[in-house]
Amino acid sequence: MSVIDEVKDRIDIVDLVGETVKLRKSGKNYTGFCPFHPNKRTPAFAVFADSGTWRCFGACNEGGDIFSFVMKKEGWDFSETLAYLAERAGVELVPHTPEQEAEDESRQRLHELLDATVTFFRHQLFSTAAGEPALAYLRDRGMSDATLETFEIGYAPDSWDATMKHLIERGFQERDLVDAGVVSERETGGLFDRFRNRIMFPIRDVRGRMAGFGARVLDPEAVPKYLNSPQTSTFDKGRLLYGLDKSRQDIRKLDQAVIVEGYMDVIGLHQAGFRNAVSPMGTALTESQLRLLKRYSRRIVLALDADTAGSQATLRGLDVARETLDREVDPVFNARGLVRHEGRLDADLRIVTLPEGLDPDEVVIDDPEAWTGLLEGAQTIVDYVLDVATAARDVEDPKAKAEIARQVLPLIEDVADPVEREVYRQNLARRLKVDERALLQYRKVKPRRSRRAPQAVSEVEEKPATISPSGAVESFCMAVLLGHPELLYRVDREFQALEIERSSNQDFSSTEFQMIFKVIRSALGQHEEEPVHYWQNNLEPQLYSIAETLIDEFGNIDILQQKVIDEVIANFFRLRKRWLESELTHIRFQLEALQEQSPSEGEDQQEQIWQLTREVQRLADIERRLDQVLSRQGGPISTAAIL
Ligand code: UTP
Ligand code: MN
Repeated sequence: MSVIDEVKDRIDIVDLVGETVKLRKSGKNYTGFCPFHPNKRTPAFAVFADSGTWRCFGACNEGGDIFSFVMKKEGWDFSETLAYLAERAGVELVPHTPEQEAEDESRQRLHELLDATVTFFRHQLFSTAAGEPALAYLRDRGMSDATLETFEIGYAPDSWDATMKHLIERGFQERDLVDAGVVSERETGGLFDRFRNRIMFPIRDVRGRMAGFGARVLDPEAVPKYLNSPQTSTFDKGRLLYGLDKSRQDIRKLDQAVIVEGYMDVIGLHQAGFRNAVSPMGTALTESQLRLLKRYSRRIVLALDADTAGSQATLRGLDVARETLDREVDPVFNARGLVRHEGRLDADLRIVTLPEGLDPDEVVIDDPEAWTGLLEGAQTIVDYVLDVATAARDVEDPKAKAEIARQVLPLIEDVADPVEREVYRQNLARRLKVDERALLQYRKVKPRRSRRAPQAVSEVEEKPATISPSGAVESFCMAVLLGHPELLYRVDREFQALEIERSSNQDFSSTEFQMIFKVIRSALGQHEEEPVHYWQNNLEPQLYSIAETLIDEFGNIDILQQKVIDEVIANFFRLRKRWLESELTHIRFQLEALQEQSPSEGEDQQEQIWQLTREVQRLADIERRLDQVLSRQGGPISTAAIL
């Protein structure tokens, strides 16, 4: 049995969902109020114990297994969810080597050590005389006690060894103190506390595990103003975002993430009720940070400080970018890097500039609405750069026009979407009062965008995947699509001919297959890469290994034979039929549950009953049509026969 199936086997969906949703038993199954949409009076959410699935018949109108439930609830991707559920189920994800085990243990120890350090610093802040000035400073900056609590802010005493002594007393080893980055080593060999007389900001990863610290001076003369943990096995600055553990839910709910520059900004915004902000840790924003954020929302706003992002920086950045095209790390406010990231990630990146001399925390503290107003004025990167480039320039001057065109055009050429690109070019032409055709002559003949190197594939680590026996038919269909994504067009046409909705991820029963299917759809919806390369570059590790295993298992399926194509199509029909059957069963259950409720619950309930009844008729009709085609094809064709 695969790890995934073992996890599904060991975790009871009723227990899992029951932790979040109050469930009422109804026959073999359960009903309740959906945790994912605002509920009215009628329970529209059901859990089917036998099949291990859930379903919302209300506003969400979706369902799935324990994986999709946790993914939706926590906002995690598949790999993270698997890690979490496997741990919960007591299933080992990877057969551990002794080295890995030692590594896991040491990382676990570091998390514990860092947690103990957080506790120590908080105690120093709230319960010692030494912490008083720090506490006064924080309060003076408008931080409430609840905020200090939420962000677990602390104080590192002004001592070379107080933190070290405390942790050693608690039983931690010197080596671990160094490895966790709370203690530094003198060249002569001695150890000393890294953080002294500073306000401490604990930094956690997206799953809430302690990763490291940011530390602000109290003494205005001291440098650096902020000191972070060094690079450690838990603290990788390029892959963490401050505040994401607390903001991911709201980012998802609001479908917008805001990137600000500092810890204090994240905290100030949070306190003012804007809980969708994160910040990097004083370093350039990396693509992996954007990728992390994009899991929660593709709409990302960068709130830039007027000085750092100011006109100069942006335009200088444009030139510098040319040399650093293929480096993963692009400077944070580099417009060209951002446009490329935006295209590669299919994100919507926008820029907001802050009023001169004000940080976001200062903007919200006296006027929360001012912040909302600023966000509403967020501009696309190109529009922003265009504004900057034309400001303070005489756009009537021919030389200035040419210079602006040369500066902004390369950026426009980098925009992934052709329509968007065209609009920007028109805007530029209008701003410069020149004919668009003149601008087109600047265009270079070189390839427009850098590709992601195929090496990304070999970087994929993780375990050798095992396949879930979610049915041979599903595996067969998926294996064919992985080898020949374009075959999906052919399948779409067959569904269309029957006037039935085209294939979707719902045709697959497990979350892992559904996720792979979505990526295959996206592969066909883009034109930058071969579809096969696209999924190879875009599937997250756990899913990638499932895909690989499927391909190994089925070998290279020769789709040139008509017989094989017919078989593929028939199997997609069978998948749909199976989905219809389970959907019908689920709806019938929901109908019964609704009818059992007291009629006092009124219109809402009647309305749902009508809707579901109509849906049953519609689905039954589709099923009939599918049965007809399938029977024309002759008896059941086994996938084995053609392999
Ligand atoms: P700022 O100096 O803008 O920080 O640096 P801030 O949060 O507004 O600080 P306050 O309001 O004076 O307390 C922005 C971010 O850059 C990083 C930190 O992550 C900081 O939050 N930084 C800044 C450093 O890493 N080192 C520094 O010396 C300064
Ligand atoms: Mn500030």
